[in-house]
Amino acid sequence: MAKLMMKCLCYFSYQLLLILILTAPLDATEENQKNFYVAYLGDQPVDEDLAVQTHIQILASVKGGSYHDAKESIVYSYTESFNAFAAKLSNDEAQKLQRMDRVLSVFPNRYHQLHTTRSWDFIGLPQTARRNLKIESDIVVGLMDTGITPESESFKDSGFGPPPAKWKGKCDHFANFSGCNNKLIGARYFKLDGNPDPWDILSPIDVDGHGTHTSSTLAGNVVANASLYGLAWGAARGAVPNARVAAYKVCWVSSGCSDMDILAAFDAAIHDGVNVISISIGGATEDYASDTISVGAFHALKKGIVTVASAGNDGPKWGTVSNHAPWLVTVAASGIDRQFKSKVKTGNGRSVSGVGVNTFDPKEKFYPLVSGADVAKNSESRDSARFCFDDSLDPKKVKGKLVYCKLGTWGADSVIKGIGGVGIIVGSEQFLDVAQIYMAPGTMVNVTDGDNITDYIHSTRSPSAVIYKSQEVKVRAPFIASFSSRGPNPGSKHLLKPDIAAPGIDILASYTLMKSLTGLKGDTQYSKFTLMSGTSMACPHIAGVVAYVKSFHPSWSPAAIKSAIMTTAKPMSQRVNNEAEFAYGAGQVNPQKAVSPGLVYDMDDMSYIQFLCHEGYNGSSLAVLVGSKSINCTSLIPGVGYDALNYPTMQVSLKSNGELTTAIFRRRVTNVGPRLSIYNATIKAPKGVNITVKPMSLSFSRTSHKRSFSVVVKAKPMSSTQVLSGSLEWKSPRHVVRSPIVIYRPQD
Ligand SMILES: *[C@@H]1O[C@H](CO)[C@@H](O)[C@H](O)[C@H]1NC(C)=O
Ligand SMILES: *[C@@H]1O[C@H](CO)[C@@H](O)[C@H](O)[C@H]1NC(C)=O
Ligand SMILES: *[C@@H]1O[C@H](CO)[C@@H](O)[C@H](O)[C@H]1NC(C)=O
Ligand SMILES: *[C@@H]1O[C@H](CO)[C@@H](O)[C@H](O)[C@H]1NC(C)=O
Ligand SMILES: *[C@@H]1O[C@H](CO)[C@@H](O)[C@H](O)[C@H]1NC(C)=O
Ligand SMILES: *[C@@H]1O[C@H](CO)[C@@H](O)[C@H](O)[C@H]1NC(C)=O
Ligand SMILES: *[C@@H]1O[C@H](CO)[C@@H](O)[C@H](O)[C@H]1NC(C)=O
Ligand SMILES: *[C@@H]1O[C@H](CO)[C@@H](O)[C@H](O)[C@H]1NC(C)=O
Repeated sequence: MAKLMMKCLCYFSYQLLLILILTAPLDATEENQKNFYVAYLGDQPVDEDLAVQTHIQILASVKGGSYHDAKESIVYSYTESFNAFAAKLSNDEAQKLQRMDRVLSVFPNRYHQLHTTRSWDFIGLPQTARRNLKIESDIVVGLMDTGITPESESFKDSGFGPPPAKWKGKCDHFANFSGCNNKLIGARYFKLDGNPDPWDILSPIDVDGHGTHTSSTLAGNVVANASLYGLAWGAARGAVPNARVAAYKVCWVSSGCSDMDILAAFDAAIHDGVNVISISIGGATEDYASDTISVGAFHALKKGIVTVASAGNDGPKWGTVSNHAPWLVTVAASGIDRQFKSKVKTGNGRSVSGVGVNTFDPKEKFYPLVSGADVAKNSESRDSARFCFDDSLDPKKVKGKLVYCKLGTWGADSVIKGIGGVGIIVGSEQFLDVAQIYMAPGTMVNVTDGDNITDYIHSTRSPSAVIYKSQEVKVRAPFIASFSSRGPNPGSKHLLKPDIAAPGIDILASYTLMKSLTGLKGDTQYSKFTLMSGTSMACPHIAGVVAYVKSFHPSWSPAAIKSAIMTTAKPMSQRVNNEAEFAYGAGQVNPQKAVSPGLVYDMDDMSYIQFLCHEGYNGSSLAVLVGSKSINCTSLIPGVGYDALNYPTMQVSLKSNGELTTAIFRRRVTNVGPRLSIYNATIKAPKGVNITVKPMSLSFSRTSHKRSFSVVVKAKPMSSTQVLSGSLEWKSPRHVVRSPIVIYRPQD
C-alpha cells in the first residue's frame, strides 16, 4: 500500500493496516483469484474511441474471445496522456496479456498506504518577495492526494480572473462538494476498484484533511489570523498564492491510494495542463519501470511537467528513501525554528518540558497521577498496560486521573479519555522533534524525564500533576526530522536521494471541518487550520518553489528547474544529522536564490533512459517509459561517465573488495546568468578522498552557452558504513553553484 507521507499514525491509518493484513493472504494463495492489473500499450493514442475499442479487443482475446467478459473485467481506459487500461484478471490472464506483442507491460495494482506558515519566512520567501504576478496566475498546480476543501479561505477566488486559456481540466458538482471557482479550477476523484468506502465520500471532497493541508501549503491564498487554537498564529499562505489549484483525489480513507487511481490521475493531470505535480504518497519499490509514481512522473516529464514527491517517513533508518527515480524531485523534511512544548508540573513542584500540541487550559488544576503499568485490568494485561493499549487498563483506577504511558501506539489519549481518565503523559525515545496533537490534555516527554516521573509516582501516596497548555518555543534549526526517510538510494548506487530538504515539522495550513484534529474517538476539537508533520508537508513546499521559479522562467525544462533549486540550496551540517546528504540531499531549499542560479545542469528525457540502460535496465522493460519497444540499450550509447547522468549531485559508492575506487563524472552546465561570466571551481574533499576538476575555470560568452567538465573522485576503502561529504562549487562574483559529492560504502 502506498501511504500518505504524514507522520500521524492516527485512527484511520490503523484501519488501513488492518485491511492490508486481511487481504494479503488471499492474494498470495488463491491461484485463480482475480486481481486488478494495469496493461500499458504506449503513448497517447491518436483516436481515443478507437483506443477504448482496442482495449476491449485485447482483453477479449485473453478471455477466450468473449467481449462480454472483456467488458465486465475492464475498469478503466487511460487515453488522455497514455494508452493503457486497468482490468480485473486472473494470474493466467495477466500472463497471457504480458505475452501479447502490442502490450508493452503489465503490472499488478497495489494499494499504497497513506505515507502561519512561518515556514516560508524561515526559508526566505517572505510575503513581500519579488513576484511575476501575471505568469504566476497562469500556473496550475496539481495535487494527487485525499481531495480538497472548496470552502476553505485558502481557495477562495476573489481577485482571480478566469482559468488560463490552455486549461482543459474539469470540475463537476459532486456529493458534499460545492464545486470549483477561479482559484480551485479542477477537482476530480479516482476510485477504480469500485469497493465502497464507508469512511469516505465518492467526491473530490477531503474528509481526511491531508489534501487540503498540502494544497494550501503549495498555493493557498494569504489568510490572515490563521492559527490552531491560537497556536502558530499568523498569516497562512502558499508559495504561489496567485497560482491555480487542481485536486486529484486518489487516496481513500479505507483503502489508501491505489496504483490504478494514481495512474488515472497522472493521465488526467497531464492532459488537463497542470504545470507542477505534487504527490505526497509513497510505497517502496526499487524498479523505476514498474512503480506507478515513477512511470506517471516520466510521462509528465515528457510534457515538461515537474513531479515533486515526498521521500517517506521511515527514517532515521538508512536506505529507506522512496520516490527516488532520477526525474522526481525527492523531498526530505526539516524542522523550522519553532516547536510546541507544554510544561508538566508534578506534585513535588518539579517541572519537565513535554513536546506536543495540547490546546486544553488546565487553569492550574492538579489531577491524581498514575502509571499505566500500575493500573492494569488484570495480570495478563500488565505488559500492554505499560503502553496504555486499548482494553488493558482498569477503568476504576483511571477515572479522573492523568496516566503515564510508554509510547506504543498513537491515540492512547483516546483510550484513557474513553474510560474516564483525564489525560496522558507519554514517555518516548523517538519522535521528540514532532508535536503530536492530543484529543485530551497530553504531552510527550523523553525517557529520562519519564523515568523521573515514574519514580515520583512511586515515591508518594498521592501523586499528582498538571499539564499546561502548549506554547511556542524557539529552537535551533534547520535539522532533518527524525522520521524523514534516509538514503542511500535503494534503487541505484549512483544516484543521491533525497534531493532536497524543506520544512515538514509542525506546519500550519488549512484543514477540513469534516474531521476532528486527531480523528480519534471522542475528539471534539475542530479547526480550519491545523499543524501537521511529515515529508508529505515538505513536498508541497518544494512543488511551490518549482512553481515560483517557473513563474520567472516559464520555458525552463524540468531538469533545469530542479537543478536551480538544488544548486542554490543552503548547505546543512553533518554535525546536526550524521547521515549528512542521505538525510538532506543538497540542503535546505532557498526559494529566492533558486530563481537566479547562474548555471544549470540541464537534461532531456533521453538522458534518463541512457542512465537506466547504464544501470542495467533492458530496452523492453523501458518500453513503459518510452512508449515503444524500439529502445535498444546496446546501440543507445549507455551514457558516459560514472553515473551517465547530468545530475546536480554526485554519489560514489566504494568498492567492497578493499581496492581504491575511482569515479569520473562528466557534467555539462548551461549559462542562465549574465551573458559574460567566468566561474572558478572550489573543491572540498573529505579526508582520504582526492577530488579534481578539469577544467578549473569555465567561461561563458552568451546565455544558454554550455560548458563541459569532468570531476575525478579517488577514494580509499572505508572500514565501516559511513558517509563522507565533499562538494564542488562553481563560483562567479554573483553566483555559487554548489553540488554535494557523497562517498559511501554500501552495506554488504
Ligand atoms: C453528504 O451529503 C449527504 C446528502 O447530500 C448528507 O446526507 C451527508 O450527511 C453528507 N456527508 C457529510 C459528511 O457531510
Ligand atoms: C485578526 O484578529 C484580530 C484580533 O482578533 C483583529 O483585530 C483583526 O482585525 C483580525 N484581522 C483580520 C484581517 O481578520
Ligand atoms: C531529556 O530531557 C531533559 C530536559 O527536559 C534533558 O536534560 C535530558 O538530557 C533528556 N534526556 C534524553 C535521554 O534525551
Ligand atoms: C529528576 O530530575 C532531576 C533534575 O531534573 C534530578 O535532579 C533528579 O535527580 C531526578 N530524580 C530522579 C529520581 O531521577
Ligand atoms: C528485461 O528486463 C526484465 C525485467 O528486469 C526481464 O524480466 C526481462 O526478461 C528482460 N528482457 C530481456 C530481453 O533481457
Ligand atoms: C542493438 O544494437 C546493437 C548495437 O548497435 C546491435 O548489435 C543489436 O543487433 C541491436 N539489437 C536489436 C534487438 O536490434
Ligand atoms: C591523494 O593525493 C595524495 C597526494 O597526491 C596521495 O598521496 C594520496 O595517495 C591520494 N589519495 C587517494 C585516495 O588517491
Ligand atoms: C578565477 O580564476 C582566475 C585565474 O586563477 C582569476 O584570475 C579570477 O580572478 C578568478 N575569478 C574568481 C571569480 O574567483
